[in-house]
Amino acid sequence: SVDSDYDLDRQIPTTATGLRQGLPSYGDAHFSLFLRKVFIKALGYSDDALSRPIIGIVNTYSSFNPCHANVPQLIEAVKRGVQLSGGLAIDFPTISIHESFSSPTSMFLRNLMSMDTEEMIQAQPVDAVVLIGGCDKTTPAQLMGSISANKPIVHLVTGPMMPGSYKGVRIGACTDCRNNWASFRAGKMDIEDISALNDELAPTAGTCGVMGTASTMACILAALGLMPLKGATAPAVSSARLRIAEESGKLAIEASKTNLTPQQVLTRESFINAITVLQAIGGSTNAVVHLMAIVNRHPDVAGKITLDTFDEIGRSTPLLVDLKPSGQNYMTDFHNSGGMVALLHELKPLLHLDALTVSGKTLGEELAATPYIPVPRDNPVNCLHSLSDPLYPASSLVVLRGNICPNGAVIKASASKDKRLLHHKGRAVVFKNSEDLAKRVNSADLDADADSILVLQNIGPVGNPGMPEAGMIPIPRKLGEKGVQDMLRLSDGRMSGTAGGTIGLHISPESSDLDSVFGIVENGDLIEFNVKERLLQLHVAEEEISRRIEPTRVPTSTS
Ligand code: FES
Ligand code: MG
Repeated sequence: SVDSDYDLDRQIPTTATGLRQGLPSYGDAHFSLFLRKVFIKALGYSDDALSRPIIGIVNTYSSFNPCHANVPQLIEAVKRGVQLSGGLAIDFPTISIHESFSSPTSMFLRNLMSMDTEEMIQAQPVDAVVLIGGCDKTTPAQLMGSISANKPIVHLVTGPMMPGSYKGVRIGACTDCRNNWASFRAGKMDIEDISALNDELAPTAGTCGVMGTASTMACILAALGLMPLKGATAPAVSSARLRIAEESGKLAIEASKTNLTPQQVLTRESFINAITVLQAIGGSTNAVVHLMAIVNRHPDVAGKITLDTFDEIGRSTPLLVDLKPSGQNYMTDFHNSGGMVALLHELKPLLHLDALTVSGKTLGEELAATPYIPVPRDNPVNCLHSLSDPLYPASSLVVLRGNICPNGAVIKASASKDKRLLHHKGRAVVFKNSEDLAKRVNSADLDADADSILVLQNIGPVGNPGMPEAGMIPIPRKLGEKGVQDMLRLSDGRMSGTAGGTIGLHISPESSDLDSVFGIVENGDLIEFNVKERLLQLHVAEEEISRRIEPTRVPTSTS
């Protein structure tokens, strides 16, 4: 009966079954249900169909989004999984964001998408939701929104693209987009080659094929227990990906029965596991920004994970996955090495195995139920290292402090191309903003040498605004032509997870903040950068720093 479905005093639903869920928005619960049934029936559903668990499927397809090009097939496979398990699957759209087509900055769109996702899950009569996504901002947005909406969810990623090949060399988006473009700019590659490469860098549907932000977030979702353990790495175009989609539909039916919501599944320990995986895969610096936003959606965990948590976990977590940009391989290689199942088995001593997953089982129980046959370490296919023989000993991602960044800065140390730069002192060459950089970085009379520290100000969340991925400051052409491949670069912006180099990011407070020391760095200032000591320091006298900051401050009192 309707009466048992609603607590009319508190105006909240008391059951979570299909159409009965939702507020009695017309002030009359019986009429509200009557009306909802009128309209859902206009779609041709029978009473039998509507009596089943209803699984919503979030459709993020767009013809502008190659990372999500396989979404229509995935929806079909999820529906099969739902309906084989006795449920009714209903898909609905949210916006679709592709990293390359999200001007002025995809961070605004991430936040818009999180609201879209939250409101759509909240509003519609669903018992559980399968969120299909993949491209960089999509999975964070979906997780932010779905934690707030707090109905049972299962994540399904679209999966990575296959690598391409040019002149016998494997290539893939987008680490090799950047490497090859840098070679072209340095005059080491001709126009014919760079044009031909353009056809092969993203040769199939799917997300970027290296350990960029999309792959990073996919691995994190598996670590959080929000998808089948093997769901992170199967290629977008593989039959394995479709079977994972079918399994996700079945898992959503389970979730609709246990009614385990993301706020129940996720604990501080789940996020510690996620950060351990982030460090072990050499994941994207963007994941730090996203995870903080995600954590803060969870009322019980908000404030209990900080920037320092990332650094602490890094100190005891080695890098085990040999993928670009920290290593050499592609996501398909990680998949063929056993993917996240193999990695989580290897990381067991470092994980909270009692963390819950969406299946209702703990991570430890899921791992025990998901054995794998390890690829021999010396097999050329294998790109997974062991805890005793890591690719990089610890701290692939590092959090720095110092007078330039009292609120922190982040670097992916493992992706540094010239590790000597991880302990470096040099003179600043300052660019005031992105336009200034574009105007001067290739000029023949730029006063910079290989030891200079390139500083890009005003690309932070407020400064640009929206914190664009502009942090990979290109090597000045005149130095690139001399063979310089890496320099220490600093900014208050973000960088693509697919990019490599010795690049400090997210410097806080950002330049546009009136108290920002980073914002008053001038040409010729001495900067010290020491990853081992976690130090980023401006060697300018305190009085001089105050003298430069003072005029930028708005007086806060009349005294
Ligand atoms: Fe979508 Fe790289 S552009 S994952
Ligand atoms: Mg990216």
